[in-house]
Amino acid sequence: MSTSVPQPRSGVHKISVYVPGDDRSSASRVFKLSSNETPLGPSPMAVEAYRANADKLHVYPEGSARILRDAIAATYGLNPQRIVCGNGSDELLTLLAQNYLSPGDEAIYSQYGFLVYKIAILASGGTPVVAPETEETASVDAILSRVTARTKIVYLANPNNPTGTHLPYDEVKRLHAGLPGNVLLVLDAAYAEYVRRNDYSSGVDLAGAADNVIMTRTFSKIFGLANLRIGWAYGPAAIIDALNRTRGPFNVSGPALAAGVAALKDRVHLELSVAHNSVWLKWLSDEVSALGLRVTPSIGNFLLVHFSDEKGKGAAEADAFLRERGLVLRRVAGYGLPNALRMTVGTEEANRLFTAALAEFVAGSAS
Ligand SMILES: Cc1ncc(COP(=O)(O)O)c(C=O)c1O
Repeated sequence: MSTSVPQPRSGVHKISVYVPGDDRSSASRVFKLSSNETPLGPSPMAVEAYRANADKLHVYPEGSARILRDAIAATYGLNPQRIVCGNGSDELLTLLAQNYLSPGDEAIYSQYGFLVYKIAILASGGTPVVAPETEETASVDAILSRVTARTKIVYLANPNNPTGTHLPYDEVKRLHAGLPGNVLLVLDAAYAEYVRRNDYSSGVDLAGAADNVIMTRTFSKIFGLANLRIGWAYGPAAIIDALNRTRGPFNVSGPALAAGVAALKDRVHLELSVAHNSVWLKWLSDEVSALGLRVTPSIGNFLLVHFSDEKGKGAAEADAFLRERGLVLRRVAGYGLPNALRMTVGTEEANRLFTAALAEFVAGSAS
């Protein structure tokens, strides 16, 4: 009798399971500030479109996500043939690794880059290569210096999660110019809609013009549809073709497609969400800094707060203290940031409760 059992490819055992943001708290009211979800929720138009699909649950969705690709194309001025939709952008980030990495190939991401990249690379049998950051910001020089003949992908979240920092578009273009043509540059712009800065671009132009650049986007963040799992990618026809061959044939559900189309139409909701975020991101950064804690300058819908190394004053203690009061933030030790917490910009009420509780924590632990 054989004692052997099925074995996954070797990289699978090296994967640390992704730990999602949670909402565990003993408090009677809980504010989940751990997953960069929007405090304003989705557009009411999206909710209505979702509900209107409730009587069609027995029917398979249209497999190419045509209505959503058309709506995205109309909204952003793109060719719908060069868009593919995914079950969240996570699915597309993972499929890119699956499509472009063979065992032994390398893929680069930056030191505090979004953790899904490492998982996707290892799951595909590739070798993750980490480029150190400078001031919690991706470094083009560090990334380029790690390119070898085995490099097949560079993943860049811009802005990045969990730091909230970004690379100006000039730097993104310099990165692209320094990469060999056979290296795929993945620009993950999950938070792009929040950003209103003249040095920033999601990279849509580069993804439209270059043969080796793809941009990924999501409906999970500003559009408030994280629970429906909708992402999309835009890029060269050949890369979109490869994604279409390897994705699930019905990877986005019908109610999700309908909700996504409706969400794109509600520009008022989008503008309200941008305005809410810019006011409260700045307010939170100022208030937390005034308490003597370092905050990484963020342009996303979240901020990274750094705690003291002294016993009793660290991120773990702060997390427990805030949690007891119903304020659930995200530990980021898995990113190599054991003494920081990431906080999603919440409602005005949550933001004010957070700073009040944090002030109490800082005062209580100061001795
Ligand atoms: C940088 C970044 N990319 C991609 C995602 C994945 O988004 P989704 O799979 O919900 O589209 C996230 C979610 O946290 C993110 O922070």
